[in-house]
Amino acid sequence: MKNQLEAIRSNASLALESAATQQEIEALRIKYLGKKGELTSILKQMGKLSPEERPVMGQLANEVRSFIENEIAQGIKDIKEKQQAEKLNSEKLDVTMPGICKPLGDKHPLSIVLDEIKEIFIGMGFDIVDGPEVEYDYYNFEALNMPKDHPARDTQDTFYITDNIVLRTQTSPVQVRVMEKQQPPIRIISPGRVYRSDTVDATHSPLFHQIEGLVVDKGITFADLKGTLETFVKRLYGEDSVVRFRPHHFPFTEPSAEVDVQCFSCHGKGCRLCKGEGWIEILGCGMVHPKVLQNCGIDPEIYSGFALGMGLERVVMRRYGIDDMRMFFENDVRFLNQF
Ligand code: DAH
Repeated sequence: MKNQLEAIRSNASLALESAATQQEIEALRIKYLGKKGELTSILKQMGKLSPEERPVMGQLANEVRSFIENEIAQGIKDIKEKQQAEKLNSEKLDVTMPGICKPLGDKHPLSIVLDEIKEIFIGMGFDIVDGPEVEYDYYNFEALNMPKDHPARDTQDTFYITDNIVLRTQTSPVQVRVMEKQQPPIRIISPGRVYRSDTVDATHSPLFHQIEGLVVDKGITFADLKGTLETFVKRLYGEDSVVRFRPHHFPFTEPSAEVDVQCFSCHGKGCRLCKGEGWIEILGCGMVHPKVLQNCGIDPEIYSGFALGMGLERVVMRRYGIDDMRMFFENDVRFLNQF
């Protein structure tokens, strides 16, 4: 029996030395110390020993048991330490390595110029308001003095959602929404997306941007409109810009005008940029039609106002010499990175 116990001790010791995982160690624990383990089955034979041998073998068996238990504890500890070291090693951080730069996006050219335009109007005391892109026919047309059979509707190829709901073709409906809610004094601009069923080409897109302006108060005249727009154009294009007002017609303003700036490339002589005209059209404007004021619950006998509408894409194309509107919407970073 003594030999058997010694053999168990040395076999267990050898086996534990080469065990590499906690599972392997656990298997060895069961093999030697478990209920049906090798040591246990030897102890069951103790009854067959003589009374003199029994305490001697009992003591040796206990020694072997605690020896194996110690080896197991040590083995588990070693494995844990090894795992910890491996973990630390894999998480090692070299703080002298260069960082990984996340490329930052830039502002879209439309946003750059729009922000500038907003700043100019905010500087003149205007507020900025938003309006819905899905709009009632009433706000987009009717209230703006364009009833169902009005010929001017044909110039704005409209996406209809239902008979009464459209994708707004202009930002002018925001005028109506503001006047319905707010009594004068009113001084707002409203930039946003508008939609027209146009075929895509270098100068047309079914989605583009407009900026609407509206001022209503007592005693507002065409002189206020001219002064405001001259100031705006000079801030946007430079103090030496020359502006001209040309008579025009819009259903929601009377009188109406279109505003041109003298071509800043050829100074009026005519060139490629202004298509030989010497002037570049930038916006439509006029005195708010008394009927529109009335539609919105504002008394035209007491108040008057002016309005303006400007296409953002055109302004930006001229600013940067972009000759194809599609560039704005293709999101090609080679284009976008240039601004
Ligand atoms: N809504 C017009 C358009 O899309 C632009 C416009 C012209 C707006 C004159 C105005 C205005 O507010 O007074 O063509």
